[in-house]
Amino acid sequence: MKIAIINGPNLNLLGKRQPEIYGGQSFEDYLKQLRTAFSHLEISYFQSNIEGELVNALHRVGEDSQGIILNPAAFTHTSVALGDAVKSLDCPLIEVHISNIFQREEFRHFSYVSSGAKAVISGMGLRSYELALRYFSPA
Ligand code: DQA
Repeated sequence: MKIAIINGPNLNLLGKRQPEIYGGQSFEDYLKQLRTAFSHLEISYFQSNIEGELVNALHRVGEDSQGIILNPAAFTHTSVALGDAVKSLDCPLIEVHISNIFQREEFRHFSYVSSGAKAVISGMGLRSYELALRYFSPA
């Protein structure tokens, strides 16, 4: 089963960026753990700070993935284009956030992506990704 993880802007800085909110581990490091724990899944990974590249990535992985895990980061709250791209997918997409966006500033409470997502996981730290993978992982 092919699952794509896509991370939006500034998530390349995980481990260094506001560790009090996002933790001290880099995503590359965490991804190694995920690939070991879910070795029966084929997990691809893409990160970009550029909105259009994220739209292109959704179109691309949407062709041959059985599931997508997307952390749109700041574009969650601003991007009609990402919201539209998510709605055009044939496979289920889970929106994840490391922090609980509803406990934070009001501008983070709205997501352009959620209405097109199968589910939203927010506030479980990096475990948000693991919980999303469990949904796609056969019992
Ligand atoms: C985030 C929450 C967003 O509001 C923020 O802009 C991010 C990360 C999260 O994972 O908690 O960059 O998506």
